[in-house]
Amino acid sequence: MSLAGRAAIVTGAARGIGLTLARRLVDRGMRVTLLDRDPAVQARAESLGSLARGRVVDLRDIDETRAVAEATIEEMDGLWLLVNNAGVFEKTPLLEIDPSAWDSMMEINVRSMVLLIQAAAPSMIAGDGGRIVNQASMAAKLGTPGEAHYAASKAAVVALSRIAAHEFGPHQITVNSVCPGYVLTEMGADTRDPRQIAEWTATSPLGRLATPDDIAAAVEFLASDEAGYITGESLNVSGGACTW
Ligand SMILES: NC(=O)c1ccc[n+]([C@@H]2O[C@H](COP(=O)([O-])OP(=O)(O)OC[C@H]3O[C@@H](n4cnc5c(N)ncnc54)[C@H](O)[C@@H]3O)[C@@H](O)[C@H]2O)c1
Repeated sequence: MSLAGRAAIVTGAARGIGLTLARRLVDRGMRVTLLDRDPAVQARAESLGSLARGRVVDLRDIDETRAVAEATIEEMDGLWLLVNNAGVFEKTPLLEIDPSAWDSMMEINVRSMVLLIQAAAPSMIAGDGGRIVNQASMAAKLGTPGEAHYAASKAAVVALSRIAAHEFGPHQITVNSVCPGYVLTEMGADTRDPRQIAEWTATSPLGRLATPDDIAAAVEFLASDEAGYITGESLNVSGGACTW
């Protein structure tokens, strides 16, 4: 019933939620490969000890992503858990969104997940099943003005996860998405003046913003054997902000 010894990939793990999650999984004894375009991912992985390994990859690059994912899965001799966490956030009024910015948002926030899933699912199917957790956002369900392309990309993540759950369910692979609220990471730091922090805090009945550990704990649960009958869901970890 333990995650110890099992293999995991976490994307976007050089910092923020991904790094916190990778640390948590290593603490549970998992073998974890951290993927990120930021070369700092290698030093961050080393700091987590011998169960962690870092690899640099730009998830917008299709060939590079496929090659790194396949090499990683082979090296780890299969995979129990894939966490598609990497993502980018940008606030732009709808009338000013350049088509290239739209495409870039979709490439990293959604298409990269498809590539990783295509690389990972065959080995899970050949093994004992597995877990896929995709990082969506409260923006998929609520969103605010100025985040049309971000919110649309995250709504696509929710839909992608639901369909993947149906396609892979017969192979005992669960696929879920997580919808965090406002998490205190470097993402969106430039949209975080005291007024905005107060506004976001007020959306949670708990009266606080999320920590990366709040999100990592939910992902760990979805990765566990105990969550084996939960699939196709989008789990809000938004401090109640999605319940108004
Ligand atoms: N922070 C929040 O408030 C919040 C809220 C809801 C959802 N999320 C989602 O959670 C996930 C993690 O967010 P975070 O706050 O930790 O963000 P972050 O910006 O701190 O970290 C994101 C990581 O993804 C990596 N990354 C970005 N583009 C990449 C690419 N092309 N190839 C490889 N790596 C790439 C970055 O280098 C970075 O290390 C994202 O998908 C984000 O949309 C965050």
